[in-house]
Amino acid sequence: MNWDQDLFKRTLDFAAKAHGTQQVPGSGFPYVVHLVKVATEVLRAADGSFDVDFAMQCALLHDSVEDAGVEVALLRTEFGARVAEGVSALTKDESVPKAERMADSLRRIRAQPREVWAVKLADRITNLEPAPAHWSAEKRAAYLAEAKVIHDALGEAHPGLAARMREKMKVYA
Ligand code: NI
Repeated sequence: MNWDQDLFKRTLDFAAKAHGTQQVPGSGFPYVVHLVKVATEVLRAADGSFDVDFAMQCALLHDSVEDAGVEVALLRTEFGARVAEGVSALTKDESVPKAERMADSLRRIRAQPREVWAVKLADRITNLEPAPAHWSAEKRAAYLAEAKVIHDALGEAHPGLAARMREKMKVYA
């Protein structure tokens, strides 16, 4: 599967700069490690059924608005409207009550092209690594239940990613 390595590098540089010294919570890794893991999930899933460069860019930038405070307008200038809207849909809306936030987020993702759905699946696949030690059993159970909701809402976008997510859910502890 062909993908644009130079575009990958340019987007990665932008994301790395935006997230700066931020770390993946509980891991000590620079945040960019998470972004690259999500991007490699979508690159691995590329099977000709979606625009791999668009998916890869949304993957590298998916937390740039929510966690690094990047303006959607800047994403539009740097990477175009399609990427800006994809990332915007992948950003939780803090003005929505917490209990409804996931449903709202999934609704906005479902209004986007399938590549954006794939990024959300890839994000959760990446995050279904062993939970941080300080997480309670209840918190882990809630995270797993939320993963199931994401799988059921978006899994049809990419059967391969959906299957991979089910594998991760099975061994999540
Ligand atoms: Ni993420």
